[in-house]
Amino acid sequence: MKKFWSDCLKNLNPYTPGEQPKEKIELKLNTNENPYPPTQLVNQAICTNGSTDLNLYPDPESDDLRDVIADYHKLFKEQVFVGNGSDEILAFIFYAFFKDKESVLFPDITYSFYPVYAKLFEINYQTIPLDENFKINLDSYASNNSAIIFPNPNAPTSIALSRNEIELFLKNHMNSIVVIDEAYVDFGTETALPLLEKYNNIIITRSMSKSRSLAGLRVGYALGSANLIEGLMRVKNSFNSYPLDRLAQKASIASFKDEEYFLSTCNQIVQTRNNFVEALKALKFSALQPSGNFVLAKPPKTIDAKSLYLSLKDKGILVRYFPSPVQISSYIRITIGTKEQMEKLVSEIKKILS
Ligand SMILES: Cc1ncc(COP(=O)(O)O)c(C=O)c1O
Repeated sequence: MKKFWSDCLKNLNPYTPGEQPKEKIELKLNTNENPYPPTQLVNQAICTNGSTDLNLYPDPESDDLRDVIADYHKLFKEQVFVGNGSDEILAFIFYAFFKDKESVLFPDITYSFYPVYAKLFEINYQTIPLDENFKINLDSYASNNSAIIFPNPNAPTSIALSRNEIELFLKNHMNSIVVIDEAYVDFGTETALPLLEKYNNIIITRSMSKSRSLAGLRVGYALGSANLIEGLMRVKNSFNSYPLDRLAQKASIASFKDEEYFLSTCNQIVQTRNNFVEALKALKFSALQPSGNFVLAKPPKTIDAKSLYLSLKDKGILVRYFPSPVQISSYIRITIGTKEQMEKLVSEIKKILS
């Protein structure tokens, strides 16, 4: 019975998140979560003898958290926006800055939430093909009065652009708004952050779900000029004044207080990823050069991607298979877990291949 649905609702094409199984499975390597728990400071911050004042609304502007993030990145609080996961912030960005642009451009193979937001807000968009090596091809993005968004590193390819490449691009796009989605930047990609000083047309989004092991908390943030951040505040306050609850604000603040743990878990994941890529190559996979906490890899000729995905699933191991777009349908995307988890995966793949 869809008779009460608006036309817009009927035409929506919602995002399908990676599977979140209800039962415990052997290995979950399908949604780019962090295999390590958050720093203990997070638990300490939210499990303290009931003093979280949950009867009271939280600070609508998350000022303490924004102060901490601003300090951490050496910016002003006015340059920081926080939201219920970077997904929510991306939605606000589409609404705030993309709606009346001549064109909104993003890669043809990228985070699949972008076209979903565009449709939700009835924004026209154009996708730009990756180059033949699956890299974002910045030269093919039109130069004036457009809106451009891409992740760096890109997802699901895990391939990164350098800061120089991005800066060169910005110089030619002074009249466009450029959004760089840095959800996976902490696993070895150069951040565009230093460019904020020179360019007032960029917004950088960050996620606490990946490198900070807080996917279950739902917190993300955006960094940009005070003017752009004020724009996001206007959208937030027209939608939900309290997107971050008290626990989320406290836990996020705690996460920024343990830099040593943060760096050591990121480093371990990068190390494990590099070893894992070597192991895949030894099994005759071709893997794209990864810069995130995941790898897009094509199995050897003896098995196709979908069969491998299904065989692993049978063994209780979840990875991600994308039937479309066709260019990546012969690949699987594997999240990097702990060293032991990746060894287990390699040994199971070996059994399937033999
Ligand atoms: C490229 C990219 N951006 C943003 C997000 C959203 O992250 P979150 O809403 O958990 O912060 C994801 C999640 O997988 C992603 O892959």
